[in-house]
Amino acid sequence: MAARPVIIDTDPGQDDAFAILLALASPELEVLGLTTVAGNMGLAQTTDNARRIVELAGRGAVPVHAGSARPLLRAPRPVPEIHGKMGIDGWDWAPAERGAEPMHAVDYLVTTLNAHPEKVTLIVLGPQTNIALALRRAPEIAERIERIVFMGGGFFEGGNMSPAAEYNILVDPEAARIVLNAGIPVTAVPLDCTHATPAPVNWSATLAAHGSEVMRACAGMMEFFERYGNAKYGTASRPLHDAVAVAALLWPELFTGRQCTVDVECAGELTTGMTVVDWLRQTGKPDNCLWLNGCTDPGEVYRRMEAALSRLG
Ligand code: RIB
Ligand code: CA
Repeated sequence: MAARPVIIDTDPGQDDAFAILLALASPELEVLGLTTVAGNMGLAQTTDNARRIVELAGRGAVPVHAGSARPLLRAPRPVPEIHGKMGIDGWDWAPAERGAEPMHAVDYLVTTLNAHPEKVTLIVLGPQTNIALALRRAPEIAERIERIVFMGGGFFEGGNMSPAAEYNILVDPEAARIVLNAGIPVTAVPLDCTHATPAPVNWSATLAAHGSEVMRACAGMMEFFERYGNAKYGTASRPLHDAVAVAALLWPELFTGRQCTVDVECAGELTTGMTVVDWLRQTGKPDNCLWLNGCTDPGEVYRRMEAALSRLG
């Protein structure tokens, strides 16, 4: 079966790093390129991190294109308290040998989507600013997108940056609303799904035992990533939110969900950034999203992820 062409829009972040590495390790996917956005860190940092990650995987030829340095309307909201000073803390990263490509991420998205012979799947792992800008700049690209798979949102699980909102959506709710209402097939991988997909306890030790540079880097990032979340939620392990989104694309049989109507609150005093899911179809609006709300076998997800990552480097 031919590999599925994908572009990954990302704001690395340790969980973004796992997602990127998993995608690069999966022959089912052809990673055409990465586009970076301000999110967990500022744009320069997320872009440098994306370069370091593809080079760690031995895939330095994968192009990285820097995108928007801020959300459409709102101020950036970096979260070094979660991801560390550089955003992918937990490993002694070598400097990237190569920088980002000169073309802006939005231009890269439009050019690539219009030129690629097949429709392309977008894996969106941060605030959706670049995707929204590309859709506004060239609406015709909607026909060239096979599907958008995004990590973001929460409904039954509430939020992780406010009681109502998950980080990626809260940072740029207007962008998420544009994407959700563009008529493109969308799979949402919200906290409802990722919180049902926690990593095995002490998984970092399992990764480190492989001994390769990639696996030792993953072990260090996993250990760092779990600190904030385990302390905040009182848990023994954390989900790698963005890697779960790639897992849902690769192994859909391991996840549950429902087609429904989803929109984004952009003006609520308490609920801005909330993904409002019409789970019981009370609005009568057409479905616009496959909303994943569970995982049938989290252990299998991470077993497959471990096996894929161990193939890198
Ligand atoms: O809420 C989790 C999401 O926000 C992940 O994509 C993480 O990397 C941060 O961007
Ligand atoms: Ca992310």
